[in-house]
Amino acid sequence: MKIFLDTANINEIKEGLALGVVDGVTTNPSLAAKEKRPFRPLVEEICALVPGDVSLEVVATDLEGMVKEGEELAQIGPNVVIKCPLTKDGLKAVKYLTGKGHRVNQTLCFSATQALLSAKAGAYYISPFLGRLDDIGAIGMDLIRDITEIYRVQGFKTQVLAASIRNPLHVIDAAKAGAHVVTLPFSVLEQLMKHPLTDIGLKKFLDDWAKSGAKI
Ligand code: E4P
Repeated sequence: MKIFLDTANINEIKEGLALGVVDGVTTNPSLAAKEKRPFRPLVEEICALVPGDVSLEVVATDLEGMVKEGEELAQIGPNVVIKCPLTKDGLKAVKYLTGKGHRVNQTLCFSATQALLSAKAGAYYISPFLGRLDDIGAIGMDLIRDITEIYRVQGFKTQVLAASIRNPLHVIDAAKAGAHVVTLPFSVLEQLMKHPLTDIGLKKFLDDWAKSGAKI
C-alpha cells in the first residue's frame, strides 16, 4: 500500500519525503488556500519536489471548465493527477480527460455506486472520504471494504485511495481492506511512527549505557 501526504505544505512534504515512506501527495482547494501563497508557483514547487504522484484539484464545476483547468494542471509535470469531484460533470470529465491520456483522481466519493460509475468512466484513483462519513455517524471503513471488493470482483483497474484519514486505526483498517493508497495529514503520519514503549525503552537503554561508562 502506498502512503501519500494530504497537504500543500512544503515543509511537511520535505519532511515526509526525508522519512523515505511517502510515495506521493494529494492536495485540495482547502489545503492549497491554507498556504496563503499564489496557487501556480506553490503547486509547481510541490510537483518538482515529489517524485511520485501529485493530485491537483480543479475548482470549476462544469465539464468544460474542469477539462480546461485539468489540462492546464496536467502541463505542470508528468506526475500530476487531475482531481475532479464525483458529480455528473465530474464523471464526464474523467471519461474525457482519461481519453486524452491524463490520469484522474475522482474525489469526494461517499458511496459504492459513485465508485462503480467512476471506475467505469476510467478513473485512475477513486478517493472515498472515510473520516467525513464517520463524522456523520456512518462507518467510513465499510465503504472502503465495499469498493475494494467490487473492484476486485469486477476486475476494475481503478486504485482505491483512502482519503479523509483521521487516525492510525483508519490506516490499519484501510490496509487490511486492500486499499492501494492512504493519504494522510502529516499529524497522522507522525502518529504512525510513535509508540510510548519505544520512547521508554530507548531512555532505559541510554541511561544504562551512560551509567556503564562504555563507548562505541
Ligand atoms: C483527499 O484527497 C482530501 O484532500 C482529504 O483527504 C480530505 O480530508 P478531510 O476530510 O480531513 O478534509
